[in-house]
Amino acid sequence: MTATDHLPQTLDLASLKKAAAGCQGCHLFEHATQTVFGEGPQTASAVFVGEQPGDHEDLEGRPFIGPAGKLLDEALNEAGLPRDEVYITNAIKHFKWELRGKRRLHKKPDSRELAACRPWLEAEFAAIKPEAIVCLGATAAQWLLGRQFRITQNRGEVIKSPWCDWTMATWHPAAILRAPEESARDRMRADFIADIAAVAKRLGY
Ligand code: URA
Ligand code: SF4
Repeated sequence: MTATDHLPQTLDLASLKKAAAGCQGCHLFEHATQTVFGEGPQTASAVFVGEQPGDHEDLEGRPFIGPAGKLLDEALNEAGLPRDEVYITNAIKHFKWELRGKRRLHKKPDSRELAACRPWLEAEFAAIKPEAIVCLGATAAQWLLGRQFRITQNRGEVIKSPWCDWTMATWHPAAILRAPEESARDRMRADFIADIAAVAKRLGY
């Protein structure tokens, strides 16, 4: 069964979310707690795309509510972009993990899983028709903008994508938190805040 088998006829977010709750488009649903669908109003002018739900998100059923989500919240606050006016989602909707000791550690999705889940993200884009799309991190960026995309070189650039004339990629907040050196962390955080501020400006906030 593919994700497309579950797609409802109408493109409203509530129906999409309901349909995605039963998705068995790839094997990832087997080991995750629940589908973590995107969150935000259908009238949102910006869509933020992360990689996949993490441990907290898997348990709560909401995207970006763990440590990475806190950093995203800080950047949105600083930019004056209210979180409840944007749409926040992920490239894949189930948590992919492996057990290390007692912790469920994030595992990178492969191209098959990304492809299987793509219809959900495409449907979210089609329902919202955003004025700005922001890829958070290399997985979302390379998947939507092409494999040649380098987050280290191309972050902050405004690119035309098939879904939106104003598409941009920035650091994944989890990558900022993981940066081993404080100086790198500070620099990445400043880039991240500046990129989110550019989104706010573009949208007239
Ligand atoms: N990282 C992501 O990419 N997405 C989330 O929802 C949480 C952490
Ligand atoms: Fe379906 Fe995506 Fe979950 Fe795979 S990761 S089961 S395609 S919702």
